[in-house]
Amino acid sequence: MCGIVGYIGGKQAQQVVVDGLARLEYRGYDSAGLALVVDGKLATAKKAGKLVNLRKVLEEEPPPASTIGLGHTRWATHGAPNDPNAHPHVDCGGRVAVIHNGIIENFAALKAGLLEKGHVFGSETDTEVVAHLLEEEVGAGHELPEAMRRVCRRLEGAYTLVAVDAQDPDVVVGARRNSPLVVGKGDGENFLASDVAAFIEHTRDAVELGQDQVVELRRDGVTVTDYEGRPAEVHEYHVDWDVSAAEKGGYDYFMLKEIAEQPRAVADTLLGRIGSDGRLHLDEMRITDQQLREIDKIIIIACGTSYHAGLIAKYAIEHWAGLPCEVEVASEFRYRDPILTRSTLVIAISQSGESMDTLMAVRHAREQKARVLCICNVNGSTMPRECDGVLYTHAGPEVGVAATKTFLTQLVAVYLIALYIAQVRGTKWGDEVFAMVQLLATMPEKVEKVLETMGPVRELARSLANERSVLFLGRHVGFPVALEGALKLKELAYMHAEGFAAGELKHGPIALIEEGLPVIVVVPPRAREVLHDKIVSNIQEIRARGARTIVIAEEGDDTVVPYSDTLIEVPAVPTLLQPLVATVPLQVFSCELATAKGHDVDQPRNLAKSVTVE
Ligand code: G6P
Repeated sequence: MCGIVGYIGGKQAQQVVVDGLARLEYRGYDSAGLALVVDGKLATAKKAGKLVNLRKVLEEEPPPASTIGLGHTRWATHGAPNDPNAHPHVDCGGRVAVIHNGIIENFAALKAGLLEKGHVFGSETDTEVVAHLLEEEVGAGHELPEAMRRVCRRLEGAYTLVAVDAQDPDVVVGARRNSPLVVGKGDGENFLASDVAAFIEHTRDAVELGQDQVVELRRDGVTVTDYEGRPAEVHEYHVDWDVSAAEKGGYDYFMLKEIAEQPRAVADTLLGRIGSDGRLHLDEMRITDQQLREIDKIIIIACGTSYHAGLIAKYAIEHWAGLPCEVEVASEFRYRDPILTRSTLVIAISQSGESMDTLMAVRHAREQKARVLCICNVNGSTMPRECDGVLYTHAGPEVGVAATKTFLTQLVAVYLIALYIAQVRGTKWGDEVFAMVQLLATMPEKVEKVLETMGPVRELARSLANERSVLFLGRHVGFPVALEGALKLKELAYMHAEGFAAGELKHGPIALIEEGLPVIVVVPPRAREVLHDKIVSNIQEIRARGARTIVIAEEGDDTVVPYSDTLIEVPAVPTLLQPLVATVPLQVFSCELATAKGHDVDQPRNLAKSVTVE
């Protein structure tokens, strides 16, 4: 949450910072602002609303040229999303400017102390205390890097901070605890940002900052220390995608592009993991086969769409790997007393690798001595570094706030892990694993096929744009697909949408059915006869009560035709793999419906892609 950019070099900082913010808007879009150092003074501009509002301000009153600056795009926590609360925040004398991502938990006590000393505050944010604390430190003669270290030692909570001092035009300083911050290393210029996307057009050489580190960015170098000023070890890496991956490429929305990229994303996530002998190789997992043999329970933790991938993983793990598997939303996990031992494998699923709830759950699990593996899409993010092992999804950068291609690649990753555990523990014969892996390898073309037939789904979505509510039903892995379909519709179209296990229908939800209510039903493949026939009965039950039935079923499934007001066919695949094809129409449906309502599907209201506060 909140996007941060800092720049020092030879280019116009305003341009670099604003372009960087444009790539970070997925992190929050309640307000945007920037500060530049100009002849011993700060030039600041900030505006509530999306970045476009700030751009207007900058056009109307262009700030003076500068080669050092910082910028911020906000997802509000403390204080309404208005102009005064927009970042950057400055101290009383307008000498120091600060931007922040996270929550400073002891800000109230710090603020009280500062007010007593006569500091004057211009916002309701927790961030502003840092500007005034830095003011005191630089006022006492400390250079900005040391001032930042001294301030950070007093802060509690999770935060990333970046600051400039008007009286020192040669340094930008950043600090990191929990919330992400990466350095981009250029030639005579350096960058700081929440995500490499902000500087990818300038450099692909990045430095991952660790916990409780302060970075000093100068034109000709980068120095990283801990909060005591001791040199810190950092991890340098090269970003393996380029600027085109972070652009819309002719699509109106990133979401549309990302939906279309799914066949490639699925293929890339499989790439290099299937040996010529048909066996799976997941060496990067960093958990040995012996350790996998010792595991007696798996717990999956995740948030949002990643949680839905976790729910599907449970079916795959229990079926293929024969291990008990629990799935829990990360925000609940550490507040009960989960029973974890050395032989528990915890799998954290997180696209960003930064969701604070999941990160905290990971830490809790590790403290309890469980082994922790994460499934993550972002190289250089926090979770892979803190887990015992990682399996990267290779979806490429996902900019649309609502997860699409990363969900499908998370599914691929959980299938790979479940099959790999089955291979290692011998719970399935080698040829059974091989057969399933062969089927997985055909999934990119199956997803492509779904995408080619989405015209009627779009038409359906537009026809339902004025509905007030849509229900989603599924059984087995179709149930998490129903939950994901409902989540997509809520987050994009702001409509009441709920997903239910079809078997639960008669225990309450059926009371919601009224004449004409659209109900989308995910039907399992005919091969799972018992499941299939039960859901066909459920469709009849809701239809008898007036529901408008929209049925997603495998192609050629004639049994559902008489009960479907609209039939959406998807390719025939094994039951466990069906979410890969059945989710796609639901993504397209929500995207189209929300667009018909005039919503910005890349930046739905109140949401942020990366939730870095608890
Ligand atoms: C936010 C996003 C969701 C995402 C969830 C978990 O709520 O809007 O799309 O599924 O966070 O994010 P993660 O990065 O941990 O997968």
